[in-house]
Amino acid sequence: MKIFVVYCHPSKNSFTYQVKEEFLKGLRDANHTFIVSDLYEMNFNSELSEGEYEREAFYRSEIPVANDVLEEQRKIQESDAIVFIYPVFWTEAPAKLVGWFDRVWSSGFAYNPNPQMKVLKKALFILSAGKTMESLEETGEANAMRTVMLGDRIRTRAIEKEMIMFDGTSHWNEAERNVRIIEHLKTAYNLGVNF
Ligand SMILES: Cc1cc2nc3c(=O)[nH]c(=O)nc-3n(C[C@H](O)[C@H](O)[C@H](O)COP(=O)(O)O)c2cc1C
Repeated sequence: MKIFVVYCHPSKNSFTYQVKEEFLKGLRDANHTFIVSDLYEMNFNSELSEGEYEREAFYRSEIPVANDVLEEQRKIQESDAIVFIYPVFWTEAPAKLVGWFDRVWSSGFAYNPNPQMKVLKKALFILSAGKTMESLEETGEANAMRTVMLGDRIRTRAIEKEMIMFDGTSHWNEAERNVRIIEHLKTAYNLGVNF
């Protein structure tokens, strides 16, 4: 399969960076082909311009789609699957990735009129979260994130869709964190191998 990986974390010292590396290693070992958009490294512009807003909100239709957005859309059209790797920031993706959706999920591509975006075979979200799964489920935060990403942003744009959360990665309890991240990194590798 050809996989488009959208990765978003500001630091190479992060756990999320290691997750991305392990996942890509798994993909390589399974002979998958992939391309990566590293949104911070690319300095991806995640802010809608006034013109883009007016086009997306259907005030004006003549505003062209920007080249950097067309490039991301081309990567989607040339792939079979999409994978997002990012840390949870305030029960959402980092603002840069949220802005990527604002701009790349444009009208005429991801939604009306006549959306041209292909239906992908699979959309996988790999998140790292400081909180534990118990806490994220109990507060409804895990479900909120599933609803927004799998429900609203992917909806019918992929046949198979899944969200994996690597939990308990905060530095509050180093001993517990160290155990968890070893397991999470193994899982990240296996997600790549078994994609
Ligand atoms: C600004 C900010 C907001 C965060 N918000 C949440 C949150 O809402 N829920 C959560 O579980 N973790 C939250 N975290 C923790 C991150 O998800 C954590 O950084 C990540 O899980 C893994 O660590 P890494 O940054 O080393 O990759 C937040 C971290 C930052 C910096």
